[in-house]
Amino acid sequence: MTLTPTPADQFTFGLWTVGYNGTDPFGGPTRAPLDVVHVVEKLASYGAYGLTFHDDDLFAFGSTEDERRHQIERLKGALAATGLKVPMITTNLFSQPVFKDGGFTSNDRAVRRFALRKVLRNIDLAAEMGAKIFVMWGGREGAEYDAAKDIRSALERYREAVNLLGQYVLDKGYDIRFAIEPKPNEPRGDILLPTVGHALAFIESLEHPEMVGLNPEVGHEQMAGLNFATAIAQALYHGKLFHIDLNGQRGIKYDQDLVFGHGDLHNAFALVDLLENGGPDGGQAYTGMRHFDYKPSRTEDETGVWASVQANMHTYLLLKERAKAFRADPEVQQALADCKVPELAVPTVGEGEGYAGLLADRSAFEEFDAGAYYNGKGFGFVRLQQLATEHLLGAR
Ligand code: GCO
Ligand code: MN
Ligand code: MN
Repeated sequence: MTLTPTPADQFTFGLWTVGYNGTDPFGGPTRAPLDVVHVVEKLASYGAYGLTFHDDDLFAFGSTEDERRHQIERLKGALAATGLKVPMITTNLFSQPVFKDGGFTSNDRAVRRFALRKVLRNIDLAAEMGAKIFVMWGGREGAEYDAAKDIRSALERYREAVNLLGQYVLDKGYDIRFAIEPKPNEPRGDILLPTVGHALAFIESLEHPEMVGLNPEVGHEQMAGLNFATAIAQALYHGKLFHIDLNGQRGIKYDQDLVFGHGDLHNAFALVDLLENGGPDGGQAYTGMRHFDYKPSRTEDETGVWASVQANMHTYLLLKERAKAFRADPEVQQALADCKVPELAVPTVGEGEGYAGLLADRSAFEEFDAGAYYNGKGFGFVRLQQLATEHLLGAR
């Protein structure tokens, strides 16, 4: 397996990620802006598959139609020259003052109508660019004060918005699906769809749930203290892993957006193992884009920006290689069997057995030795985790 990224690896980067100029709540930019054509050329040279962007990343909010077209055409020229693709587009409904109380769920109805128009225009752009995934991250859809936001009305308005946008895509005949990105907080004190679980429940309430899935982000679940690989398994179980935001996060704190793997490395290993080997017969469980949504730290100059781009992809490929070795190791296969991992796939009650058969089976209860589980019958999970650790460390 090669550790040099190629477009076949489907690595993509947000224009706002490499373009992050270092601004944080305590200080201004530490780097000059990067031109989109330069970004496209650089990403292509490092073997990335594509670029993603918010409308406002490409052309400033409030641009005239001429300025907007000019930037779109410049991007198209760079894509044609390099072969880079735009597989995902998203809308900025969070930076401008008008969105200070959100877009789809602002208490102000005029703002909600403006937000919908901004997104409708951006869906047309997504179709024009050939993007098949449209991400919705509702970072400002939330509140700081309990009485200030009627959560049930907010959910209803969010639902109204997604239903309307879905109808638009259907009527236009666009080949586009939506991916909702949960986050627990930041910039709002509390965000409306805080975790993968909340978003899954919301999606089922929609008119066209089949058109809407998830774009979970490593750091966002971890900010909520949750296990990201587990969240991804749940999204896969429901057929809702439409897109993924890879990055690194160290514990429950502000959204760090570190390079992928520069946080909980064990969990990153489990994630790559799941994505690459968790499918039927050990194949890929997810075939979509491997999208990096991180921020090159503000301590870095432009050289550091490109080093961090390569670091994301290199770490992913290293973990993929390590996960393959983990799965191929006969000791691991034996440990998995000892842990009874495959046994969980066996239905608890036999086919046609029903509760009548279960009740008739004396070995299931009357003769079952529950006491044997005291001081015996250990599962051996720790040994399995140590094998994973040793593969992760390259010690096997
Ligand atoms: C964040 C989010 C965003 C979104 C982006 C795409 O915490 O800032 O992760 O980066 O992913 O807006 O919708
Ligand atoms: Mn984030
Ligand atoms: Mn994200």
